[in-house]
Amino acid sequence: MRVLDLGVISNNERFRRRAELIARFFEFEFRFFNNDEDFFSNSGDYKGISCVVLDCSELTKPNEVAGQVQVAKQGAPESYILTVVSSKLSPEDARIVRTSGASLVIMENEYLSSSKPEFILSQVIRSTYIPIKALDLVEGSEIAFPIFHLLSVNKRFLKIAKPGYKVGHDFLEKYIEVGDLYLKRSDLPAWVQYTNLHSSEGPESHLRKCRLRFLQLNQSFLNLVLLITDQSSAASFAQGRELFEVCEGFAAELLESMADLKDPWSVISNSAIGDFGSVERAPAIAAYAGILSTQAHMGNPKEIMIGALLSDVGFLDLSPSTTEKVRQNRLNDFNAEEKMEYQKHPIFSLNQCLSRKLPLSEDIKEIIIQSHERMDQKGFPHRVRSDKLNESAMLVRLCWDLDMRCQVRMGEKRVDIKEVKQKLSESASSDTGNYSFIFLNKILKILNKPENNGDVIVV
Ligand SMILES: [Fe+2]
Repeated sequence: MRVLDLGVISNNERFRRRAELIARFFEFEFRFFNNDEDFFSNSGDYKGISCVVLDCSELTKPNEVAGQVQVAKQGAPESYILTVVSSKLSPEDARIVRTSGASLVIMENEYLSSSKPEFILSQVIRSTYIPIKALDLVEGSEIAFPIFHLLSVNKRFLKIAKPGYKVGHDFLEKYIEVGDLYLKRSDLPAWVQYTNLHSSEGPESHLRKCRLRFLQLNQSFLNLVLLITDQSSAASFAQGRELFEVCEGFAAELLESMADLKDPWSVISNSAIGDFGSVERAPAIAAYAGILSTQAHMGNPKEIMIGALLSDVGFLDLSPSTTEKVRQNRLNDFNAEEKMEYQKHPIFSLNQCLSRKLPLSEDIKEIIIQSHERMDQKGFPHRVRSDKLNESAMLVRLCWDLDMRCQVRMGEKRVDIKEVKQKLSESASSDTGNYSFIFLNKILKILNKPENNGDVIVV
């Protein structure tokens, strides 16, 4: 028996088509079920179902929805249940649904016309596994969690070590060559414990710690974004503030651990974290922005990181067709309507944060809203005058550009960050009107600085 990625419970054609398009885009194995009963009778065909999308958009009473959620939950107790309810239901009604066992509740209009389902499904299904480096395993140590290898042929995860396994020399030799290995997301606390247990002084331990902090920032950011997408009042403001503070804490710790490294750039660019898409790139952009801000003594590094993390949250409000082009890096293929929508995303981002009452400083708000503005007023969304431009926002935009050049899709070869930095520095200085002269003066020195004197090797 195998694990099914996605079960779709609906007999509505439009609903099914939307789920199918997402499943095909992300290459999920999926199956349709006509209703909750059908699902309950047939879910036993699988060892597990990672995620279930339950269509309750026709139901008007919260108790009826809650009943269907409970049936689905009985059929697949371990699954993540994304429940889609009628757009007429109130947040209080959505709360009842949530407490009946739904993992997340969204409205029908959001399901059909926003990009929230893309984000939720890709995160829930794909980040069931999180990447680690084989290099971070210590020879002779015993692991308390299973380890997986991603097969490039069929993009399935193969278990290669069980809990209790003692990491052997041959194992390490074989997989260090491969680079990325994977853990179940639920084993992250065990991985944190393992990394802390095997920490020591020295460059390898610093690298390991930095990668762990990056992983933690990524996970806490994803949790925050999932909460932002939740429409039920059960997802409270207090919870939002709490997750925001966790993110801030990990951002600060990542900054600290990057400061211990000669070449923090490579750690971030070599990570497979966030390889699956758009909003998911934010932690990498934030990390690059943190490094540049620290090294160029520009702005407040932690605030810049938070601004970078949140400035693309508005992608969730974009229509599915616009997001698909963003995910495929095809910004030049937008039609007029998609372009207009895309150019509003900094406004959507700020609105998402404000509607969740995240405690943002004025500087962070400015970084978010100005994250695509240019000196020549050809940016967006407000075409801010050059003397009103925030340097920290410019920095975030530069790092977004850097990350666009670094992105790899599954199975592709990683690019060399040193080359990317050099090309970025050339294009930033030749594109007059993009950044201010003073800004470039400070930044180019850092981008062109030779890194890594040879005693730290990052694979
Ligand atoms: Fe953006």
